[in-house]
Amino acid sequence: MTATFWKGRAATARLFAFVAAASLSACATASPEAPASTPTPPATSTTASEPLTPVYTAGQATRGQGTFAGVCSTCHSRNEFAGPIFAITWRAEPLSGLYQQISTNMPQDRPGSLTPQQYVDVLAYILQLNGIQPGNQELVADPTTLARMDW
Ligand code: HEC
Repeated sequence: MTATFWKGRAATARLFAFVAAASLSACATASPEAPASTPTPPATSTTASEPLTPVYTAGQATRGQGTFAGVCSTCHSRNEFAGPIFAITWRAEPLSGLYQQISTNMPQDRPGSLTPQQYVDVLAYILQLNGIQPGNQELVADPTTLARMDW
């Protein structure tokens, strides 16, 4: 990989550290009982700190594959998003790390130009490329939920 790659990773790591610190302090101040005004959590949520298994549907991965073919494949081969190097780089972090990287910096010529749904669909496709089995629940474009998903 190139120097730009490492620069990008350092920026991502800093952003991630910031997000992690922000959510830690949020945890510290939150009371154990959720106040009545708390919005209904997504179906995947149980308690705020409990780890979640990554979920996506086969249909979602197919949508993501379409976006990948239409947008990402100009610059990337799908082989870049699975295998040992990819795992060391991205699977050491919860899924939110890769979501942040993609949704903030990609596509490199038009960062942030896709919808959150399109980004999370591509993420579902990447889960599929990494051999994670689909289920009957879609992956949601919610950084807090993604931050609880180790993969
Ligand atoms: C115009 C070219 C271009 C497009 C289109 C593009 N990327 Fe990238 N991408 C790059 C470059 C160049 C890098 C390496 C430099 C960096 O990290 O910013 C990169 C890096 C990445 C990385 C981190 C690299 C790694 O192996 O760890 C991921 C993940 C990624 N891109 C995903 C995507 C996804 C998903 C899309 C489609 C939504 C996409 N990219 C579209 C050029 C592109």
